[in-house]
Amino acid sequence: GKVAVLMGGTSAEREISLLSGQGVLAALRSQGVDAHPFDPAERELSELKREGFARCFIALHGRHGEDGTVQGALELLGIPYTGSGVMASAVAMDKVMTKRIWLAEGLPTPRHVWLAPGEQDRERVRTVPDQLGLPLIVKPPREGSSIGVSKVAGYSDMAEAVALAARYDPDVLCEAFIEGLEVTCPVIGDGADARALPVVRIAAPEGAYDYQNKYFTDVVQYHCPSGLPADEEAEIQRLTLAAYRVLGCRGWGRADLMVRASDRRPFLLEMNTSPGMTSHSLVPMSARAAGLSYERLCVELLAGARL
Ligand code: DAL
Ligand code: MG
Repeated sequence: GKVAVLMGGTSAEREISLLSGQGVLAALRSQGVDAHPFDPAERELSELKREGFARCFIALHGRHGEDGTVQGALELLGIPYTGSGVMASAVAMDKVMTKRIWLAEGLPTPRHVWLAPGEQDRERVRTVPDQLGLPLIVKPPREGSSIGVSKVAGYSDMAEAVALAARYDPDVLCEAFIEGLEVTCPVIGDGADARALPVVRIAAPEGAYDYQNKYFTDVVQYHCPSGLPADEEAEIQRLTLAAYRVLGCRGWGRADLMVRASDRRPFLLEMNTSPGMTSHSLVPMSARAAGLSYERLCVELLAGARL
């Protein structure tokens, strides 16, 4: 039957979603799938039903796409979709909720302070470095692609970083900075059959792994194979699978982690339930290293579509 590739949408990551969706659309068509683009910013999701779409490939990122809302609408319409269901999508969209679950399950994630809307005054904000040390990271908890993220080096930078994050989310997440290597690890599949793909190591000049350089320049270098010792790679994969399972993810996902330089311990930063599929994105890179082409990856993900 007909397949809709959901792309675009209204989130701050719209531009990236259009790149992901165009890639997925072309790949599915090249494999003989009757795939069509569908932008929820331009059309009502209920049209999917009227137009007889049998399945959806979700290539949306961020709010109203990766956060359980579109997943809930598709549940109501009865149209199977790729990736995680309503609950895991909603929880993973929120980095604070995600951390609470990981902490409850004993999984390592950097220490954090959550600043609710009433807690972002100068006095309160200046106490955060005392709790987390410096440098630290300030983020909007429900964004992606590094949007609104700052690395704070001193007390005097806190207010500006919190104000920037608060432009994207009423809540603000402050997180201890882990000095070390940045890595990412994709997962494909469900439950006991879920498998981790090869780890990708990200090598960016200090402060340069931002929105622009993630997608539109070649400043960042990616290593896959990661070059990490086999036992460290296996530990990152084990941790990623555990992180995916306790959130109740299905279909696919990608955990972002830091490996602490001092003791080589990995820490989970977040789980992406609708990872980027652009030419610069990391799941396709890792899949390729595992012998899975971009086209076959898209077909496999679509085959996992369910309600
Ligand atoms: N949020 C972007 C799309 C990613 O994680 O790949
Ligand atoms: Mg993310």
